[in-house]
Amino acid sequence: MTKDTSNQMWGGRFAAGPDAIMEAINASIGFDQRMAAQDIAGSRAHAAMLAKTGILTDTDAEAIREGLLTVLSEIESGTFEFSTALEDIHMNVEARLKDLIGEPAGRLHTGRSRNDQVATDFKLWVRDQIDAAISGIEALIRAFVAQAEVGADWVMPGFTHLQTAQPVTWGHHMMAYVEMFGRDLSRFKDARVRMNESPLGAAALAGTSFPIDRAMTAEALGFDRPAANSLDAVADRDFALEFLSAASICAMHLSRFAEELVIWSSAQFRFVTLSDRFSTGSSIMPQKKNPDAAELIRAKIGRIFGANTALLMVMKGLPLTYSKDMQEDKEQVFDAADNLMLALAAMEGMVKDMTANRDSLEAAAGSGFSTATDLADWLVRALNMPFRDAHHVTGSLVALAESKGCDLPDLTLEDMHSVHAAITEDVFGVLGVHNSVSSRMSYGGTAPTRVREQIAAWQAKLG
Ligand code: ARG
Repeated sequence: MTKDTSNQMWGGRFAAGPDAIMEAINASIGFDQRMAAQDIAGSRAHAAMLAKTGILTDTDAEAIREGLLTVLSEIESGTFEFSTALEDIHMNVEARLKDLIGEPAGRLHTGRSRNDQVATDFKLWVRDQIDAAISGIEALIRAFVAQAEVGADWVMPGFTHLQTAQPVTWGHHMMAYVEMFGRDLSRFKDARVRMNESPLGAAALAGTSFPIDRAMTAEALGFDRPAANSLDAVADRDFALEFLSAASICAMHLSRFAEELVIWSSAQFRFVTLSDRFSTGSSIMPQKKNPDAAELIRAKIGRIFGANTALLMVMKGLPLTYSKDMQEDKEQVFDAADNLMLALAAMEGMVKDMTANRDSLEAAAGSGFSTATDLADWLVRALNMPFRDAHHVTGSLVALAESKGCDLPDLTLEDMHSVHAAITEDVFGVLGVHNSVSSRMSYGGTAPTRVREQIAAWQAKLG
């Protein structure tokens, strides 16, 4: 029996190499090669620290540094040959380093393990995605604010149950999404602060007997500090879960506006016209312009929710510290991140390019008895009627208008008197949609004045 087929990284006690099926189930190189840049950054920081602390000679450290740069350029240029037999990105990089520089490569792994290495790489990768999500959301928020500014005082129907409720302003509706995505932004920022501790130097699980300097590697990699407990550092993946949770909530918000775009761009609504750049045609129906990007965003969101659930399932019930189950933490996060970034970019493009149809919005704003609440409020104010009674009287007037096939402002004073004798001409002053929105001056309300304040506050915040 020869030892030749056993793994060159950990095969010392093995007499034979793995079965092909074992190799297939064990390997993660097919996907974790996406963390190559992070892996090499972590190794460079580790090698520099080993030299600084005298664990490695400067000559070896320099050979490692140069070798790692070569490996990185090979990976970036696509000439690197990834090997499934070498399992993962960590061992692929180290093996190539050995080809390039020989013996010193074997000293790089002093005082560390793949367990802290993978936790570090993955954290760095997720941190980059958080930064990408933050800038994607900021861009989207700017697009919504720009839309709000164009139509701060344009009227449209506000809905509950997708039934006309009360008139609102277009600017107000756009700014509602700004608030939602603003909270998404702060969720990602919070998560970034919490996750920014370095696992590197936790080694396999217990720390190391070498006099390493974890603060130094933490700083080199942009972490705020080293993680305080080595067991926790290699065992937890809550940073990835926080990313997926924040991504899921953000994705949910994206899906809601995507749905509104699908509805609003339909011939029945015509609230918005999507740009050609973000629409597609039909191969059989020449008149069609389909909101595919919005539909795809609506659908892709499910993958992000799925990834969140999948990672919770992987981590659930795992005893401390590392278990190989945790190798299954990455693919779903990669997929979720890719789809979140794509959905954010597509939504930003659609929002930037779309045109709100002022006339359709205004025509719809007045239909469906949308100012009925204004009428009831007028009865309370002008006739000192209890709100419940006013609600009832207004209901009768709505029924009357419905039976006459007209809207509330089209009723005559005689019509009004047939329901309540004390109503005066003044009532017509509150039945128009513009008056309705202008009157809603309460803080956070839909009045154009308030909306412009919200827009200005966000513009100041965004700088
Ligand atoms: N490829 C592994 C992963 O992604 C690296 C860590 C392996 N550690 C170990 N003890 N087998 O989780």
